Amino acid sequence: MRYVVIGNPIAHSKSPQIHAAFAAQYALADFSYERLLAPLEDFDGTVRSFVAEGGKGCNVTVPFKEAAYELATHLTDRAAVAGAVNTLKLQDDGTLLGDNTDGVGLVTDVLRHTTLTDKRVLVLGAGGAARGVLLPLASARPAAITVANRTAAKAVDLAGLLQPHAGGVALTGTGFDGIKGEFDVIINATSASLGGERVPLPEGAFAPGALAYDMMYGKEETAFLAQAREAGVTRRVDGLGMLVGQAAEAFRLWTGRTPDVEPVLAMMRAGLAG
Ligand SMILES: NC(=O)c1ccc[n+]([C@@H]2O[C@H](COP(=O)([O-])OP(=O)(O)OC[C@H]3O[C@@H](n4cnc5c(N)ncnc54)[C@H](OP(=O)(O)O)[C@@H]3O)[C@@H](O)[C@H]2O)c1
Repeated sequence: MRYVVIGNPIAHSKSPQIHAAFAAQYALADFSYERLLAPLEDFDGTVRSFVAEGGKGCNVTVPFKEAAYELATHLTDRAAVAGAVNTLKLQDDGTLLGDNTDGVGLVTDVLRHTTLTDKRVLVLGAGGAARGVLLPLASARPAAITVANRTAAKAVDLAGLLQPHAGGVALTGTGFDGIKGEFDVIINATSASLGGERVPLPEGAFAPGALAYDMMYGKEETAFLAQAREAGVTRRVDGLGMLVGQAAEAFRLWTGRTPDVEPVLAMMRAGLAG
């Protein structure tokens, strides 16, 4: 059973280690998972060649999640709403199923650290990652979700688009300058931390006891988590658990097996530190 993660660039991807560890839990000797670099202009051709050579499924990362959405023959509901696919599975009839497991990965990880029911949630960013996690977050029944983005119109549009699917949880879109009040959970889904930049959060945005969650992760503390620490936030979590969680959900889709995330997360954390 051949699987790959497709992206451009892709050399940095940690997914092969994660999936190898999942496969080892079930002693799946015939499970292989590698990195596959796709040319920027030929994602579709890369997937088709991989399938023609016997590939059974792939993860999809930057910048191809929307191309994978277009390529999929069928979509899960959550991928259809997200408008982005991070997991493709070859079906028995030769068609491709597209799924988006980022939201499950995020929510499962956030719930490791706090509850979401009746919490005031702020999501920073309105790109692909934010789009994939908003409805899974809403399904955890928070009091309300605010989406704030550097380009305000994108947040306003996204909140409006997803509101009918949010099960009655209020979604509000705004620019950073429209962030008002305090929040129990603030999730950074911008790529600001990638460039070491901070997000312009108003003073007092973190409620007492709030959780700060950065989808980014790395050996060093991210810019957003440093910002949260300086604001006195003690519960700060990076996105490594989300990465392992989305991988676990993809592995389950492909193999029908639900891997144990905890030891793999511990292994990856130790690897980051080393
Ligand atoms: N841990 C995981 O498993 C996981 C999974 C998916 C994504 N991620 C991480 O999530 C982040 C976002 O990914 P994405 O796919 O959503 O990217 P994307 O589609 O390119 O969206 C980027 C977002 O970041 C905002 N942004 C970029 N630079 C900024 C800055 N300097 N200050 C404030 N906002 C800024 C953009 O705002 P504008 O609209 O104004 O440009 C946009 O909302 C990345 O760091 C990615 O690594 C992690």
